[in-house]
Amino acid sequence: MRSTTLRILAGRLAVPCLVCAAVHAQSIRYTEGRKIWLLTTRESSYAMGVGPDGALRNLYWGGPLWRVEDLPAAAPRRDISSFDPRQMLENEEFPGWGGPRYYEPAVKIAREDGDRDLVLRYASHRIQGDGLDITLKDVNDPIEVTLHYRVYPDYGIVARSATVRNGTTRAFTVNSAQSAAWYLPPGDGYRLTYLSGRWAAETQINREPIHEGQKVLESRKGHTSHNFNPWFSIDAGNAGEEHGRVWFGALAWSGNWRITVEQTPYRQVRVTGGMNSFDFAYRLKPGESLDTPQFFAGFSAAGFGGASRTLHRFTREKILPGGLSSRLRPVLYNSWEATTFNVNEAGQKALAEKASKLGVELFVVDDGWFGKRNNDRAGLGDWFVNPQKFPQGLKPLIDAVNQLNMDFGLWVEPEMINADSDLYRAHPDWVINFTSRPRSELRNQMILNMARSDVKEYIFGLLDKLATEYNIRYFKWDMNRSFSEPGWPEADAADEQKLWVQYVRNLYEIIDRLRARHPKLEIESCSGGGGRVDLGILQRVDEVWASDNTEAFDRLRIQEGFSQVYPAKVMSAWVTDVPNMNTRSTPLAYRFLVAMQGALGIGANLNRWSDSDSALATKMIALYKRIRSTVQLGDLHRLLSPRESDVTANQYISADGKQSVVFAFRHSQEYNTAAPTLYLQGLEEKALYKVEATDNKLVERQPQLSGAYLMRAGLNVNLRGDFDSTAVILERVQ
Ligand code: GLA
Repeated sequence: MRSTTLRILAGRLAVPCLVCAAVHAQSIRYTEGRKIWLLTTRESSYAMGVGPDGALRNLYWGGPLWRVEDLPAAAPRRDISSFDPRQMLENEEFPGWGGPRYYEPAVKIAREDGDRDLVLRYASHRIQGDGLDITLKDVNDPIEVTLHYRVYPDYGIVARSATVRNGTTRAFTVNSAQSAAWYLPPGDGYRLTYLSGRWAAETQINREPIHEGQKVLESRKGHTSHNFNPWFSIDAGNAGEEHGRVWFGALAWSGNWRITVEQTPYRQVRVTGGMNSFDFAYRLKPGESLDTPQFFAGFSAAGFGGASRTLHRFTREKILPGGLSSRLRPVLYNSWEATTFNVNEAGQKALAEKASKLGVELFVVDDGWFGKRNNDRAGLGDWFVNPQKFPQGLKPLIDAVNQLNMDFGLWVEPEMINADSDLYRAHPDWVINFTSRPRSELRNQMILNMARSDVKEYIFGLLDKLATEYNIRYFKWDMNRSFSEPGWPEADAADEQKLWVQYVRNLYEIIDRLRARHPKLEIESCSGGGGRVDLGILQRVDEVWASDNTEAFDRLRIQEGFSQVYPAKVMSAWVTDVPNMNTRSTPLAYRFLVAMQGALGIGANLNRWSDSDSALATKMIALYKRIRSTVQLGDLHRLLSPRESDVTANQYISADGKQSVVFAFRHSQEYNTAAPTLYLQGLEEKALYKVEATDNKLVERQPQLSGAYLMRAGLNVNLRGDFDSTAVILERVQ
């Protein structure tokens, strides 16, 4: 067992060993007599059971249990009144919309004859290893819903999804297809934490009390969107970064999604999530079925930080392509902020030489290399190399980049099309549109209807050709507008709205096929920054662009929100020039340290850097390479939040516990006050750590300090001025 696991089991979570043993023996326990399932991970248990009436009811979600006999029966309740039927009290595991049920349903259908009632009862189940399928059936018709559960016992995660199947002889339309309904223990005082934002201001943290009624987090934009991220976290009202009970979940879907957090009038908090039911209509002919996305969820007794660490480790090892065997993210250079559309062979070669001297490992050419792409009004769709900018194609540049010992990456935006493009002139019908309605353009572009098979094949073909023809290690896959007029005129009218689902499926299929044909190819998901960040895309890409906002102070908050869900390894973070988009200027060292908390990149115009800028950058990149496995693969402890303190501090601990790095940033000095003490976390109290200041700002001068001292007396950093910053490295010596 890895030492992080040992640390967690021994320390923070204090899981009794009896439970650990039970977890490893059997992640799914079932009692035939009582028809109860108990799913257990090292941090959580989840239980449901079948009542005498055949309804499947949720029984428990919280810290780990080991004894299935302890659980109550899934008994029906009594009506409170003719207005408050028992169904509203019973926590059905996957309620159909039918009978007297008024809360958010998990599935809603409409039959061709107009009947819309669906009441689901247990039919059968199957356990295979860590997987469980429970099939429910409508009380009258052969309409089936199979609930899929997968337990990740070592990771503290349970995944759920569902399949709706039409076993009747007539078509029906699914109007809502959720992945799961989750129930919190009955009670009051819960708080919801969620991420909201907009372009260049993504993943802002909100925390608010849950009251009666619904709170809807969603995307109606066709992609995951900058506005909300498909994740929720609910705490018992008093959790902090390192303590308290937190329930959380993240949806793996990059299209229209919805998470509904609801407190019923009966003191029940429930969360329903899956594909967005807004404008949703998915016709199932006899024999057809619809799969919903996976909804990953967990519970932590170690606060918001504990919940994040659980999700981070799970994402790194079980979600990302290649998992544990995928490589550390290289230091990249991206030309966008330096050259925008003005890319050409000579200019990019000059930048590549400079980047390589700094220690950059991956050189990415951004927008502007193809078609007639001199600004954002033309060229999207025409994926041939611009002959004026690269007269001999991309090969000479790629060869030069490779000779400088760097991999080559290329920006693409394959889903999009400008009206001013050869592709649009040839295939105006390929865009998403409603016949005889205007086609809204955003950033002068329209969206190709990737739900169509011919368009899907065209997009796969162009990317496959690029990856075959050139030594491309990395695509930055961008998607720069939200959907509008989501029509699919070629489809049968009753199937047009399938576009919302089929588009995403085809996106996934293209990436999966590309990766299968080009096993070394890596992909960054970008959608004008963080518009397509979710566990569904992360099952297929190596990193994501968290925001087009690269201003370092703004980034601290964006990154704090991002880190609630996603690990540092996938968070592409660039150092760029100042003054930045919000006109703020921060020192270069500060910008580096902010970006070094993720997958470090440089997006500055290196032609404008002074010798001392380049020298500092070289030093910082070398420092990053020393600590990057700790940052990218380690445990994150958020010590001080930019929302709550004028000092932001984050600590990363390597998987083997041998190295830890602390980053600290001061926003603005007021009244000549000292920065607060940084109380470190997650160290071994008996161990000694060599303390290395990366500059002269550490107050403590002792060369070694014990874990106990570092956690209880803490470290002090001399951050005196505005936008001051520092990093401290700890190496365990015994
Ligand atoms: C989007 C991306 C940027 C850049 C531009 C290019 O805005 O988020 O990083 O690639 O497109 O047009």
